[in-house]
Amino acid sequence: MKIEKVGVVGCGLMGSGIAEVAAKGGFDVVVREVNEEALEAGRSRIRKSMDRAVDKGKAKAEDRDAAWERIRFTTKVEDLADLDLVVEAIVEELEVKNELFQALDELCGPETVFASNTSSLTITDMAAATSRPERVVGLHFFNPVPVMKLVEVVRTIVTSDAVFDDVFAFARQLGKEPIAAKDNSGFVVNLLLVPYMLDAIRQLERGVATVEDIDTGMVLGCGYPMGPFTLCDFVGIDTLYRISEIMFEEYREERYAPPPLLRRIVAMGRYGRKSGKGFYDWSGEKPVALPV
Ligand code: CAA
Ligand code: NAD
Repeated sequence: MKIEKVGVVGCGLMGSGIAEVAAKGGFDVVVREVNEEALEAGRSRIRKSMDRAVDKGKAKAEDRDAAWERIRFTTKVEDLADLDLVVEAIVEELEVKNELFQALDELCGPETVFASNTSSLTITDMAAATSRPERVVGLHFFNPVPVMKLVEVVRTIVTSDAVFDDVFAFARQLGKEPIAAKDNSGFVVNLLLVPYMLDAIRQLERGVATVEDIDTGMVLGCGYPMGPFTLCDFVGIDTLYRISEIMFEEYREERYAPPPLLRRIVAMGRYGRKSGKGFYDWSGEKPVALPV
């Protein structure tokens, strides 16, 4: 099968990056959001990121313009019919994802491949909700998508070899380095990364040091590009909380359990950088740690 036309559902932090790299990779892209406001926010995120690449001399203006022309924005689910591959990057809730996949299952032709960018749900639970489980895969990108080279390509026990190979090749065509992962909650990277972030929150709860000092410790002591609290804010506190709940439910291991402080920060609506506040206040020139 030839992948030419790609749909991206959800144009938040991840969907906007996925749409951008797909358009830059030469694919025709249809982006769908729930309403005009969210669509406009996603559209401007993509445009900003593309402009930034031109301003930094990493992309030519004419290539940006050609990629931009390849993206169509819509709020109508019907516009997702007639695509070769649909990648969902919507909220980390199985019921919401399955509602979408069931709508797509009725709408799209039998050849269309469905991919999920989920961080922690199993692909099997989504594949089983469709009439085409052998054509459902995981395609897990990393944040920020235009920068991070890795993509985890995930197969279930029923994924067709041909579909897996096509999606693996698609990831390469986007300039990414794909790795194959089995369908277990957290795949490869989040199995290790999520407990690390949650542990940082637990150490903060125990009062070992401040948010800034723990971040500085991991950046200067271990050469990490950002400290764990900056990373939590970057991923999204609401998303991290959902990931943690899902992984804990799956494994029943304490290392995946959401620390109480994480839930309290979500309850206060501090979703991280995307909402302006998380562990840090992101509204000024430099992030400022908030009381916890
Ligand atoms: N979009 C596009 N490009 C971006 C970008 C964005 N959102 N953010 C940064 N960049 C680019 C910059 O243009 C810059 O490129 P050049 O060096 O070519 O100019 C480069 O990335 C570095 O950016 P900055 O100098 O502004 O900032 P930095 O050096 O602090 O790097 C970073 C930013 C790349 C995000 C780096 O801090 C980093 O790698 N952080 C860790 C990110 C990480 O761990 N991601 C995984 C999150 S977990 C996940 O994704 C899985 C999940 O399921 C939750
Ligand atoms: P986000 O909150 O930034 O964006 C989600 C978007 O989905 C929102 O704009 C919302 O309006 C939209 N949406 C919700 N339901 C929809 C529907 N039915 N149709 C169309 N749009 C819909 O979240 P995000 O960080 O981009 O995460 C999206 C997915 O990617 C999640 O499954 C998450 O676990 C995964 N993921 C996140 C990261 C990360 O670092 N944030 C990294 C890898 C994977």
